[in-house]
Amino acid sequence: MVEKINQLRKAKNAVILAHFYQRPEVQEIADFVGDSLQLSEQAAATGADIIVFAGVHFMAETAKILSPQKKVLLPDLNAGCSLAESCRPDDFKKFIEEHPEHTVISYVNTSADIKALTDICCTSSNALKIVNSLPKNEKIIFAPDRNLGNYIKSITGRADMLVWNGACHVHEAFSAEKLAALKKQHPGAKTLAHPECKRPVLLLADFIGSTAALLNFTRKDEAQEYIVVTEPGVIFQMQKESPQKTFLPLPGIAAPASALADDCGACNDCQFMKLTTVEKIYWALENEQPEVFVAETVRKKAEKSILRMLELSK
Ligand code: 13P
Ligand code: SF4
Repeated sequence: MVEKINQLRKAKNAVILAHFYQRPEVQEIADFVGDSLQLSEQAAATGADIIVFAGVHFMAETAKILSPQKKVLLPDLNAGCSLAESCRPDDFKKFIEEHPEHTVISYVNTSADIKALTDICCTSSNALKIVNSLPKNEKIIFAPDRNLGNYIKSITGRADMLVWNGACHVHEAFSAEKLAALKKQHPGAKTLAHPECKRPVLLLADFIGSTAALLNFTRKDEAQEYIVVTEPGVIFQMQKESPQKTFLPLPGIAAPASALADDCGACNDCQFMKLTTVEKIYWALENEQPEVFVAETVRKKAEKSILRMLELSK
């Protein structure tokens, strides 16, 4: 299967981009593995004719918005995102109309329609930089993730920041109680958390950052053991780069208490991210579908908010 994929990607000038939450075997065959920001930068810069997105729908859409002349394939069209779903265009449009003097910043985890209603996009790795690029007294709408929004609000001290009430079901399923219990079992371990986690969880973290920032931290830090409070797919790269270190995934709220003592690698997977398989990537490359499309009127507006983000992230 991997050999066939290699032949096809060469013959068709295709590139496979994968998020850190993908299955290990998918990350292994990707041309590039990264976080949301790095993947959108790659999608904007690639010289390939076909982009196979091993990620979720909003990521493939972002690639199509930035590279409309390229064929963008999403191996399983059911790969959605609960966070993107928590912000629907009609509701969001109404909210913006109720607050016309606000600048709209949206996380990339949104549909193209939401990006088209947005002034500047952001990801978890540049949200602070994007917010700080605006004058201190600027009124801001931050959508859709309430945990990331409230975290940014707390560290910037911005009073005029309205945060949309959306969340990701994977990060919502981490609890401070389970984290405290795991910390007790592993007193020497450092806790790394993604800012999509709830505030009580973030308060227990030693380091907070995007998936790429968490990975980078484990490369440079001297600790030997870490509790990783995000989707466990990212542990594959952490372990690969630091084979001598131990990485403990935090089980989700529904996992039995006994799971705390185990390396419960799959307990809090994002089922959308895990829909992509090596087989589906092969079929996507072979048949050049399922393809992701964005209506040109929406694309043009959405592109502006993403390009502003890429410009401000330099
Ligand atoms: P980052 O890629 O910005 O770390 O975000 C994680 C995420 O939830 C992507 O779906
Ligand atoms: Fe969406 Fe959460 Fe899955 Fe990321 S982990 S793709 S935010 S549902």
